Amino acid sequence: MATRGQFTTRIGAIAATVGSAVGLGNIWRFPYETGVHGGAAFIFIYLLCVLVMGIPVIVAEFVVGRRTHKNVCGALREMAPGRKFHWFSAVCIVASILIISFYSVVCGWILEYLFQAISGGLAGTSDYSKLFGDFVSSPYRGVMWTVLFLFANYLVLKRGLKRGIERMANVMMPLLFVLLVVFCVNSLMQPGAIEGIKFMFSPDFSAITPHVAIGAMGQAFFSLSLGLSCLLTYSSYFKDSDSLVKNAVSVALLDTMVAVLAGVMIFPAVFSYGMTPEAGPKLIFEVLPAIFGQMPGGYVLAILFFFLLFMASITSTISMSEISIAYFSEELKLNRNKASLLNTVIAMVLGTLCALSFGVMSDFKIFGMTLFDLFDYMSSNILLPLGGIFFSVLVGWVVDKKIVADELSNHGKLKVGVLKPLRFCLRYVAPFTIVLVFLYGLGVFEFLK
Ligand code: PFF
Repeated sequence: MATRGQFTTRIGAIAATVGSAVGLGNIWRFPYETGVHGGAAFIFIYLLCVLVMGIPVIVAEFVVGRRTHKNVCGALREMAPGRKFHWFSAVCIVASILIISFYSVVCGWILEYLFQAISGGLAGTSDYSKLFGDFVSSPYRGVMWTVLFLFANYLVLKRGLKRGIERMANVMMPLLFVLLVVFCVNSLMQPGAIEGIKFMFSPDFSAITPHVAIGAMGQAFFSLSLGLSCLLTYSSYFKDSDSLVKNAVSVALLDTMVAVLAGVMIFPAVFSYGMTPEAGPKLIFEVLPAIFGQMPGGYVLAILFFFLLFMASITSTISMSEISIAYFSEELKLNRNKASLLNTVIAMVLGTLCALSFGVMSDFKIFGMTLFDLFDYMSSNILLPLGGIFFSVLVGWVVDKKIVADELSNHGKLKVGVLKPLRFCLRYVAPFTIVLVFLYGLGVFEFLK
């Protein structure tokens, strides 16, 4: 078997993992989910989910990945010998491909908007709703950008771990932070910005419904790249000297910071310009260009913004692809290039179908949802939380306690004070809360009202 790669530095490992976590989930999905679910109450539940489920499940995936240094299937075989747990890797691989398919459609929108921003198309219009509608329903433009994005994704993937993934994350992540802060300052300086801040930070707890709870949990899983073995796969490239707990907390903190900053960048501006926060997936595509159009320096800001989104999203799609690439190359023995190509071709076919959900296939619905919505709903609200239950039960109940302690303390070299609370969260809090939120969403607790 080919020798396995490793991230070269601890910073590189964190940058790549944060690169996976920080993406459209933070900058596109978090603001619109917050917008449609009423603001601060949603954010409150979201933060709670990150704390009691997010961090423990990240650590669980890290333990399995770093312990085995294998792809998800090999890792599950090694961690639970004699049991058939490795079948769960099929769920992870299918879920990862479903996500790439709809995710790359939105990445395609970003490329179109970047192109429009550069060529002056954005500045030259005032009806942004029409611009967005015309673009997504065009039979070929959405598909073309989706395919182009996946091709760019392929070019990075085939360069491999160090020259492709790590190098890119090291440059992109710090740049992303700087740009976000610039945008936040800009947004906060708009007249009436305070309304947006109130919308985000002053919760009305009566607004918490099953929908809000499920949405917040799904968002936490999606944003932290949890439950589909993406973090497991990345941590299989960590060095044995990295501290798993520190890495997990850094990733959760940075990811949450970016989501909150994205909210601060968007909501004050939305309120200041008298727009509505409930626009849904098109929020940033309709609201922000309109806002840029009214701002001094809007031309440059628009280009920078869509470039920032492109950076955030490509580091995430790379990490989703890595799940199946590691599997294809280690279990099916394909070389890296062929494995990347296989992943790309499948994603291009499904991505094309998702792109067409906004145009010629908009009437093709399953359970009342277009393919795009179905892939998003199934992966974020069902498969990822299911993966969360799986990994917390695996590490909390199945894997020997000594192995977990050994891995978290780097074979006794580090002091780990959080072992007990962490195991408690993995054994009880995370699985039960996830099941509870599911049941709540299915209406099982209606009788309590
Ligand atoms: N966390 C990414 C985001 O917030 O955009 C999305 C994601 C990446 C989800 C990788 C799942 C995954 F495995």
